[in-house]
Amino acid sequence: MSSTIGFIGAGTMGRPMALNLLKAGHSIKAYNRTKAKLEPLLAAGATAADSCSDAAVGADSVITMVSDSPDVQEVILGDAGALWGCGKGSIVVDMSTISPTVAVEIGEACKQRGVEFLDAPVTGGEQGAVNGTLSAMVGGNLDTLNAVRPILSAMCSKITYMGMSGSGQSAKLCNQVICALNILAVSEGMALAQAAGLDLVTLLHAIKGGAAGSWMMDNLVPKMIDENWSPGFRISLQQKDIRLALEWAQELSLPLLGTTTAQQVMRAAEARGWGDQGTQATVNAVKAIADRL
Ligand SMILES: NC(=O)c1ccc[n+]([C@@H]2O[C@H](COP(=O)([O-])OP(=O)(O)OC[C@H]3O[C@@H](n4cnc5c(N)ncnc54)[C@H](OP(=O)(O)O)[C@@H]3O)[C@@H](O)[C@H]2O)c1
Repeated sequence: MSSTIGFIGAGTMGRPMALNLLKAGHSIKAYNRTKAKLEPLLAAGATAADSCSDAAVGADSVITMVSDSPDVQEVILGDAGALWGCGKGSIVVDMSTISPTVAVEIGEACKQRGVEFLDAPVTGGEQGAVNGTLSAMVGGNLDTLNAVRPILSAMCSKITYMGMSGSGQSAKLCNQVICALNILAVSEGMALAQAAGLDLVTLLHAIKGGAAGSWMMDNLVPKMIDENWSPGFRISLQQKDIRLALEWAQELSLPLLGTTTAQQVMRAAEARGWGDQGTQATVNAVKAIADRL
């Protein structure tokens, strides 16, 4: 069944996700702060909303895909936020990666206005967003998830119910801790290979199917070899996720030493002005720290 969806945030992830919703036959009212980024969606049949609240007017559900906790608070609860356009019984699904605590707070604010809220962050990267093969981790009410499952299915090949409000974001931060350490692992391995004078393509061929194989090896190492630093996932966004994970772990009194190291290495990348490059540029931070770049 086709739905009317307010979609907020047409960035690297949001744009292809909204395109997949259009392809599945849903009507999209899209809002993006920088209007020019809406062009591909409008060309594919979406209509443009003037504000986040306008995007929500008449929509069965609203999807937000913006950057960080304060951004999600702004686009949902701010003066022109989606909540003020939502009808009673409509559903807001935030698919950004943000703080679990903030997700719970937004859920409570929505509930007070008679609006359902799910935290449904995703993993799978830009390619997963393009292919409609993201994996969503969902927190909130199970009946609410079941109501929007057909919509999420247009963007995600895997949808996992994690439990109470905020638990989708908690799951995503676990995912990001594992990702951060994998990024550091492939970066150090490739920096070592280069220092040793190995042929990097041959090395990749030799090790990618073995015990060191990973999504990061398949997706980031070829870009490192090609010296392609354009972002699928920006270092600054990975740093945002590490910060959220470390804050969350601190609340739980759990020191995460490896994650802290990954944060410091990526901080070195940011200090050199590479925050807007893809996470594969972490290899350059490893080399720069050793004065080998
Ligand atoms: N990229 C990935 O591989 C990936 C994978 C999984 C999850 N994520 C998560 O998905 C979310 C989006 O990532 P992305 O890569 O799509 O980021 P992005 O390309 O930087 O896009 C961010 C979007 O959010 C909008 N935005 C940010 N702050 C805003 C605010 N205060 N008010 C209104 N709009 C605001 C931006 O609008 P403007 O166009 O005006 O800047 C843009 O449309 C993040 O939480 C990220 O951690 C990303």
